[in-house]
Amino acid sequence: KKPIGVALLGLGTVGGGTYRILENRKKEIEQRLGVPVEVKKVLVRDVNKARTTAVPQALLTDKPAGIMEDQEIAIVVELMGGIEPAFTYIKEALKAGKSVVTANKDLMALHGGELLALAESNGVDLEFEASVAGGIPIIRPLKVCLAGNRMEELKGIINGTTNFILTKMTQEGSDFAEVLKEAQDLGYAEADPTSDVEGLDAARKLAILASIAFNTRVALDKVYVEGITKISARDIEYAREMGYTIKLLGIAKEQEGQVEARVHPAMIPSYHPLAAVNDAFNAIFVRGDAVGDAMFYGRGAGDLPTGSAVVGDIIDAARNYTRQNQGRISCTCYDEKPVKSFGK
Ligand code: NAP
Ligand code: HSE
Repeated sequence: KKPIGVALLGLGTVGGGTYRILENRKKEIEQRLGVPVEVKKVLVRDVNKARTTAVPQALLTDKPAGIMEDQEIAIVVELMGGIEPAFTYIKEALKAGKSVVTANKDLMALHGGELLALAESNGVDLEFEASVAGGIPIIRPLKVCLAGNRMEELKGIINGTTNFILTKMTQEGSDFAEVLKEAQDLGYAEADPTSDVEGLDAARKLAILASIAFNTRVALDKVYVEGITKISARDIEYAREMGYTIKLLGIAKEQEGQVEARVHPAMIPSYHPLAAVNDAFNAIFVRGDAVGDAMFYGRGAGDLPTGSAVVGDIIDAARNYTRQNQGRISCTCYDEKPVKSFGK
């Protein structure tokens, strides 16, 4: 069976996690799809840099053109971050008839509409589950599973770095700068962590989520943004004395045909489920007219959690690719495993 060729653009925190999952779950992925998925090339800035993820040197390249021209590569996975050159590379890949998976919220918040239209006109997929809330499934649930609802409200903790900082400041009285450094070392923070602590990363994610939830386009510059840099240890202590916990929230609502979207620190009663979301975990509440309240919770940042969402998208794009190009492939799709029955 001809493997489905994948190229990774970026081998940092998320690229490394994605590569490791693809390697570790190779057999199971092939069982699910009926064909293997094979990483053919990995684009990096510096091919000679020492790396924590072991990748055969022959896969590394610093030349994007070779990827776009390679007929054996069906899926391009953009994990570099930032606007350029990621924007150009994604457009080139889509125009070349390749499906694209990305974790890039900066790009999706600014140019998502244009890129989705380009994917559509080229008959390929553009998937971006990992761009919001790391490993938590939220884009596809909003787009597909909850599509029968009129969404009323969406709110949650959608930045792992700031939640990690606020948790450590609250629970251990830690110093802001020290915890930020820890979040960077753990791979949670953006290349420029200002976007985390000033709330911009959460605003980008909120713009993406609100656009999908309310089936509209929520422009990033319409989202009110306030980060956590003005929160002091005293604020946290006062809040605690009054029975509250401070969290950075993203909130979007639709009322009378108008969508409101804002990111800012908020005092949450300590008994509320959001107050118990700690470290780099994220949680999102949605309220739909049919489903009522639903909540999504999990790891919002980091190599393997985010890689988990990226690999899910790669498998989905690969399945669509095989259906379009090779018809439905009959596969085993599961391992025969004995089922242990209790009480027998
Ligand atoms: P990162 O650790 O800084 O890794 C970036 C990778 O991209 C590096 O391997 C770098 O190459 C490569 N790269 C950057 N610019 C390049 C260029 N111009 N040409 C070729 N290669 C280039 O970033 P990350 O944390 O993995 O984040 C990647 C993306 O995922 C971002 O969009 C981020 O917002 C998003 N995201 C991150 C997380 C997280 O927890 N970190 C979670 C969800 C989404 P070198 O290694 O050679 O420098
Ligand atoms: N810097 C981001 C965060 C990564 O801390 O949430 C996940 O998108």
